[in-house]
Amino acid sequence: MEMQEKIKIQQEYINKIKKLNVGKNLKYTILTMGCQLNENDSEKISGMIEEMGYTKTNKIEEANLIAFNTCCVRENAEDKLFGKLGEVKKYKEANGTIIAIGGCMMQEKHIVEKLKQSYPFFDVVFGPHTLYKFPEDIYETMLNKKRIEDILDIDGEVIEGLPIRRDDNIKASVAIMNGCNNFCSYCIVPYVRGRERSRNAKDIIAEIQCLAKEGYKEITLLGQNVNSYMRVERERGENVGEIDSFAKLLREVNKIEGIERIRFISPHPKDFTDDVIEAIKDCQKVCKIIHLPLQAGSSEILKTMNRKYTKEQYLALVDRMKAKIPGVVFSTDIIVGFPGETEEDFEETLDVVQKVCFEQVYMFIYSRRVGTPADKMENQISEEIKHARFNRLKQLVESQIQENNQKYVGTVQKVLVEGKSKTNENMLTGRTDTNKVVNFEGTDDLIGKIIELKILSEHMWYLKGEIK
Ligand code: SAH
Ligand code: SF4
Ligand code: F3S
Repeated sequence: MEMQEKIKIQQEYINKIKKLNVGKNLKYTILTMGCQLNENDSEKISGMIEEMGYTKTNKIEEANLIAFNTCCVRENAEDKLFGKLGEVKKYKEANGTIIAIGGCMMQEKHIVEKLKQSYPFFDVVFGPHTLYKFPEDIYETMLNKKRIEDILDIDGEVIEGLPIRRDDNIKASVAIMNGCNNFCSYCIVPYVRGRERSRNAKDIIAEIQCLAKEGYKEITLLGQNVNSYMRVERERGENVGEIDSFAKLLREVNKIEGIERIRFISPHPKDFTDDVIEAIKDCQKVCKIIHLPLQAGSSEILKTMNRKYTKEQYLALVDRMKAKIPGVVFSTDIIVGFPGETEEDFEETLDVVQKVCFEQVYMFIYSRRVGTPADKMENQISEEIKHARFNRLKQLVESQIQENNQKYVGTVQKVLVEGKSKTNENMLTGRTDTNKVVNFEGTDDLIGKIIELKILSEHMWYLKGEIK
């Protein structure tokens, strides 16, 4: 069946549900766990739900439909779902709330089994590959009062044309590819999100043009491995049109009028080819902060992680980018306590952190994931050592951030104003090109604009500024 046909069928289900719901003033809530890809998927789920006639509420107790979009990248993401499900059981019993659970975790068979055993009150289970069929699943459960399990083991195709309800009106994220082919040995993502497949550039560009018309200023291009955009398609000899690489895509997005900032996550160091570096340098809208996941500093550990680069190659890449892209800075992801990580290995991680001086480090304690090679390794690290190393890394990172923040004080920064500060109604908040939060006093008409601010002081997780 053609994709357009499939979407049309789902649209019909949406219309049928809308008819059933008419005049009922129904509400929904959505709980999203995990990465920005999941947040982007949640915007699509919300888009479909709103077209069914539900309005959004943040009060879980008054929702008639509760959707979960789950993550399984680490154990604590899993715990979060089970905790919440315990809570919603009483709403289900009292109000007959529809409970739909989707996302990466649902691709794990043992999890769906656990749900059926211990939380049998759910109505729909769906996965990333069946997300577009959400309307059909909801309709089935409404009509037949039966529990729906809609999980596909094969890779879902790239689906275009789903409704979307975006959370923000200044910044938007746009998925450019699904899945991952890298199989880092610790990571569950390739098993739950399937093989890498890229969206057609034409569709991506059209979506961003639309966003620009709606007034969006900042776009984040999303994927598990963005700099291998269209690579598998290219290697298979598919006819994908002229824009068949990440570098070319960046250059095209850079041309779109109205968009002022472009970010992307996550690239993989092994795929950072010179054409991508050139494109970042040439494209004036591409922010000069690059998220470059390190994971570990020791070449030994990187090898068992299956990352396909060494410490030296990573550092050389950073140097190459610094030499070619004026003012470039970096952020990263790091895992501590991977199986077999010795004290010396861990110190290599600290060494890279010291050398690169990241703007931001997302730090994770290694978490065993069922079905991944690292889970089967015998030399697992004790919780105690993992936590101790995590704290040492955190200390180093925080001292670096503080030192780095000092460099901002007294400078003038271009800031995209995002809205009112969440902690102080009288202040506005925005971000620098390097993604630092800046709070300042200003009038609401500045929201959505890029303005120049003088940085007055630093406060660890944000800077304070004033209008120049
Ligand atoms: N594709 C992206 C990010 C994927 S998940 C990338 O490669 O950068 C986001 C981060 O979670 C990873 O970068 C990694 O640091 C972390 N992560 C993934 N699996 C993990 C695990 N089993 N335990 C701890 N952290 C993990
Ligand atoms: Fe996971 Fe590695 Fe793929 Fe990132 S690149 S999603 S860490 S397997
Ligand atoms: Fe989690 Fe799935 Fe993202 S496992 S990190 S939500 S791709």
